[in-house]
Amino acid sequence: MEVKLASNYGFCFGVKRAIKIAEEHQNSSTMGPLIHNQDEINRLKNSFNVGLYSNLSDVKQNDTVIIRTHGIPKNDLKNLKALDAKIINATCPFVTTPQQIVKKMSSEGYSILIFGDAEHPEVKGVQSYGEDQEDVHIVLEVADLDKITFKNNKIATVAQTTRKKEKYLEIVNALILKNKEVRVFNTICDATFENQDSARELSKEADVMIVIGGKNSSNTKQLHSICLENCSDSYLIENENELKDAWFFNKKLCGVTAGASTPDWIIKQVIDKIKSVN
Ligand code: F3S
Repeated sequence: MEVKLASNYGFCFGVKRAIKIAEEHQNSSTMGPLIHNQDEINRLKNSFNVGLYSNLSDVKQNDTVIIRTHGIPKNDLKNLKALDAKIINATCPFVTTPQQIVKKMSSEGYSILIFGDAEHPEVKGVQSYGEDQEDVHIVLEVADLDKITFKNNKIATVAQTTRKKEKYLEIVNALILKNKEVRVFNTICDATFENQDSARELSKEADVMIVIGGKNSSNTKQLHSICLENCSDSYLIENENELKDAWFFNKKLCGVTAGASTPDWIIKQVIDKIKSVN
């Protein structure tokens, strides 16, 4: 069986940057998991003694605190500053952008609509930058718009960086049908598209697709669902221990892709194990 990697896969710019920052700050701790990958977090802990705060009250004066890739809510940042901790910001610049847009547009009197998952740390962080929290709304589906009453007659929208463009367009279309002024900011990250486009192409020719990444990572889950559209034998795994020999029985081409938070060393371990099955 041939094993083929997608032409774009794995770590994106923001995650590479955050890991580099963490490696450069040994003995620090991160506010929230740095990235969506437990194995990489363990490696940073074991090799660089980079710890993890479970909440703000664990932070002591003069601690070095690294802010995770997905960012943190505005008030948490304010409280951290008040604690006199040394703050190292590893928030991806592409996540900082929607935070700043929400801040600016809400200060200009726009109601804010965020297309994304209300439970995701990135979205919670972006949401927190709205001046009037009651006028910051989060939707995942067009149907969710019916439940919203905007306070203003002008609306600004941003999207969670890892969302699908097509879905964002649906929501924007529905908004325009009912509102006079809609300012649309495309804050969806290209790194996600590139991995998605490559996964789509490869899954069309593969007999079996292996998607490697954190099971709580939204971009990994999206890669998996894209692969499933073209290849019903598509599996999402976090590491090589989850591979099952039966998946590869009678298969000619195994495609491999990985979410934006998956390090190369995990991808290599998975590929080595797949090759050893044959
Ligand atoms: Fe940043 Fe895009 Fe990665 S938002 S963390 S470069 S997927």
